[in-house]
Amino acid sequence: PADHAAFDLKAHIRAIPDFPKPGILFYDISTLLRHGPAWKAAMAEMAARVMPYRPTLLAGIESRGFLLAAPLALELGLGFIMLRKPRKLPGPVIGFDYALEYGSDRLEMQADAVKPGDRVVVLDDLLATGGTLAASVELLRKGGAEVPLVATMVELTFLNGRSRLDVPVETLAAYD
Ligand code: PRP
Ligand code: MG
Repeated sequence: PADHAAFDLKAHIRAIPDFPKPGILFYDISTLLRHGPAWKAAMAEMAARVMPYRPTLLAGIESRGFLLAAPLALELGLGFIMLRKPRKLPGPVIGFDYALEYGSDRLEMQADAVKPGDRVVVLDDLLATGGTLAASVELLRKGGAEVPLVATMVELTFLNGRSRLDVPVETLAAYD
């Protein structure tokens, strides 16, 4: 939207070379989060991208996704649910296992977190290979929810993570 067009999100995202491993350029949103007006503008833009999909709930992926999904849910008057790393949540959980380059990982949510008919938009800080977001979509579907959209602050377009996702994707800052 025009009222956010002047805001330069990339000016507030820092790229740190060789983290967490040599050769990886890490896009860090910490500098955005510690700048009040910039964070607010970024969240306003995210709200504008998310609202047309009419979510009934927002989900955040542990841990950096929580930093976006929880405040946005509060702003939009929606409930917030946590998609967590294994063995963190109390009570019955539903999990989804997914492959990494080496080994595998798993996301879990509480078994009663969603019900059929819920429209859950998933938020995370960054779309890289898309494995994490794809797993979040499968997990929410396993619980009976629909996922109309996934959204991130940063997209690493050269990894083509979008191709692994069968839902619309909104990202605010793309890097080649
Ligand atoms: C990072 C990032 C995304 C995910 C993206 O999380 O925050 O969640 O990787 O990668 P992908 O698209 O290749 O799946 P990380 O596992 O580093 O954990 P954190 O959010 O707890 O820092
Ligand atoms: Mg993460």
